[in-house]
Amino acid sequence: MSKKALITGITGQDGSYLAEHLLSLGYEVHGLVRRVALEDAARRFTRITHLLERVTLHAASLESYPSIFHVISRHDFDECYHLAAQSFVAESFADGFSTMNTNINGTHYMLAALRELRPQCRFYFAGSSEMFGKVAETPQRETTRFHPRSPYGISKVAGFDLTRNYREAYGMFCASGLLFNHEGPRRGYEFVTRKITSTAARIKLGLATELRLGNLDAQRDWGHAKDYVRAMHLMLQQDTADDYVVATGETHTVREFCRRAFAEVGLNYEDHVHVDERFLRPAEVDLLVGDASKAKQELGWEPEYTFGEMIREMVQADLEEASKENGQTVSARGV
Ligand code: NAP
Ligand code: GDD
Repeated sequence: MSKKALITGITGQDGSYLAEHLLSLGYEVHGLVRRVALEDAARRFTRITHLLERVTLHAASLESYPSIFHVISRHDFDECYHLAAQSFVAESFADGFSTMNTNINGTHYMLAALRELRPQCRFYFAGSSEMFGKVAETPQRETTRFHPRSPYGISKVAGFDLTRNYREAYGMFCASGLLFNHEGPRRGYEFVTRKITSTAARIKLGLATELRLGNLDAQRDWGHAKDYVRAMHLMLQQDTADDYVVATGETHTVREFCRRAFAEVGLNYEDHVHVDERFLRPAEVDLLVGDASKAKQELGWEPEYTFGEMIREMVQADLEEASKENGQTVSARGV
């Protein structure tokens, strides 16, 4: 009998890679999606178009407990990966209330419905390095004190505490990943890495001239999403539920990311990148770098992609995307 997994946020970057990974392991994969997504499949399912024949989608809203309860009542899920969230930090400053509502109540509804209907189902919560915020120590590990710097970070601390409390209070298998930034060609265009790689590709092909960014000095520990979804799965295969940092252990500035991405297409970022105050945040997370020793020792997890390989893959994908706009074919290497 194959295992049944439910993924919330299956239309997102991580959800799409995780669905692929679980299918490759023989899982029966179900996804929870918004009803509007089912109504506008061509635009909303771009990351999972190639999987639509192999996954079962259920309409529900993270804002509605009855809709979540209904989906969970329909199948005897073995594992639930709760990835759905308002995940853009800048947007959480613009609308902290809806970010809190979706991220905190949505997580609580998932946990409460599982407790009621499927207490044996293993639960993964998508925690974040943003929870460390104004970091208390470097590198950050599972024991590092949280000091979130955004409504998004606060919502993730609350989701993490809810997840731990269901584990401790009700004996459910509830694990959280403290995942540092992870990227790839399916990353949303609003996040800085994809904004940089897509604009560098468009500038190279003459489709844009400049790139406007906020804080170039912020430092992030950037890994590849494909590597990170493997860690999520491993967390739910352990004998006991626990929380794990998932990170590469390297940190790079936004400026360095720019330099390397533009260099991939033979350009100097300094000729094109401009600082624009509109993209500065009211409170910034200056430095993130994780210590994933526990995940390495207990899960046997190791990242496969290097920083340079990830940038190259993203730039190449964005060159292909941009070249469809003007009919050119360009390769990142050798330009
Ligand atoms: P993403 O690409 O932004 O995907 C977010 C997913 O959540 C999408 O499927 C989206 O559905 C869904 N969603 C958002 N609001 C929803 C709502 N109100 N109801 C139902 N679904 C909703 O994010 P990601 O990068 O894959 O990240 C996955 C999870 O990991 C998130 O919880 C994020 O906060 C967390 N995380 C990410 C990173 C990272 O670096 N990527 C690091 C740490 C933690 P639509 O397609 O319908 O919008
Ligand atoms: N998005 C964006 N746009 N960020 C910019 C820009 C810009 O124009 N200019 C500079 N930055 C800086 C941000 O201020 C931040 O310091 C850094 O680039 C990364 O920003 P994002 O790519 O938006 O990611 P994030 O670190 O805020 O959040 C991501 O990682 C978290 C894990 O640490 C998201 O994926 C979160 O969902 C995730 O939890």
